[in-house]
Amino acid sequence: MFAQRNKNQTKLDRITAAARAEIDRWIAKYPPERKSSAVMAALRIVQDQNGGHLSHELIEAVAEYLDMETIAVYEVATFYSMYELAPVGKYKICVCTNISCMLCGSDQIVQHLEAKLGIKLGQTRRDGKFTLKEVECLGACVNAPMLQIGNDYYEKLTPASIDKILAGLK
Ligand code: FES
Repeated sequence: MFAQRNKNQTKLDRITAAARAEIDRWIAKYPPERKSSAVMAALRIVQDQNGGHLSHELIEAVAEYLDMETIAVYEVATFYSMYELAPVGKYKICVCTNISCMLCGSDQIVQHLEAKLGIKLGQTRRDGKFTLKEVECLGACVNAPMLQIGNDYYEKLTPASIDKILAGLK
């Protein structure tokens, strides 16, 4: 029992105190028996803590913290495109290629980004600065085509506006 408690404590230690405090704020939004409802927020928080991707150890720790099975946390982490299971670049460029964006020229946007960055969709540049990722609809169809970098949306994209966006990423 003592050994088990120590083991669990070690797992929880993988989440920083600041991240735990933030997760606790999310847990408090739900009934005590439903704290697993905070799983998406918890994964986002520990992913940020870890520089942009989730490790197996952090997924285990989130499961422990929310009284969930590790596999259930994996189901969430592998379903949604905002979670990463491998390291990504400093700037993760998420390009929507779903129907509205496709009809408004996302193919050209992707081609331009690939040419400018020297990587293909799904790849991270060798210098670790950029990851280029294809994503499904991000809910900004009205201003398609669009992409997301961090918490920011860039909409009504053109090759020229992409050049401007990339120039601003230091
Ligand atoms: S289809 Fe691209 S934001 Fe909706």
